[in-house]
Amino acid sequence: MRRLCQNPPVSAPPELPEVVRRALDLSRSQGFVSATRHETGRLLATLAAMRGGTLGELGTGCGVGAAWLSSGATADARIVTAELDPGLADLARGVFADDARVEVLAGDWTTLERFAPFSLLFVDVREVKLGSVDVIADLMAPGGVVVLDDFTPSSQWPPVYAGRVDAMRERWLTDERFTAVDVMVTSDASVVLAARR
Ligand SMILES: C[S@@+](CC[C@H](N)C(=O)[O-])C[C@H]1O[C@@H](n2cnc3c(N)ncnc32)[C@H](O)[C@@H]1O
Repeated sequence: MRRLCQNPPVSAPPELPEVVRRALDLSRSQGFVSATRHETGRLLATLAAMRGGTLGELGTGCGVGAAWLSSGATADARIVTAELDPGLADLARGVFADDARVEVLAGDWTTLERFAPFSLLFVDVREVKLGSVDVIADLMAPGGVVVLDDFTPSSQWPPVYAGRVDAMRERWLTDERFTAVDVMVTSDASVVLAARR
């Protein structure tokens, strides 16, 4: 008998866009272990391809998320990403040296506020996911999509993580300013997409 769990969790070509490969190489060289996983990256690239205007990312790391965004974004899109650690921001900037659409800013994520409204915003700083729904809502264009990753799939309502209600995810999924969905991207990871009404 063929069991479902023997199947790979998602189907995707193994090849990565060159810019993503460069960002992953940088992550490895820096021992940076919090880089965006491929499945989420492919989702980011696909969403980026659907959205014009200004795309943003909170928490650049070594540039993997921004690389996926840039791999899908249209030629006239603008991508801004902020990283608190100035050393990392400098290194990540190098990944996009040949792409004028991408700007890496060193500083707190709030430095991105001046680029609002966003058509797509990847929120990859944990404290912001937890406590800044109101601020993020005000940064989004109508129809703009907020992406929050690193959730554990839950088939219950309210969503549960480690035996407790996942209040952060519940908050994003029920906020009246957004239409939101929790999407499983692999058997062990889900991503919340929240579209600004
Ligand atoms: C999960 S990692 C980001 C990974 C990255 N988005 C990627 O796709 O590989 C979170 C990053 O947010 C940065 N960070 C933490 N607090 C921040 C803040 N207040 N503003 C901007 N960046 C922040 C950390 O230094 C870290 O590099």
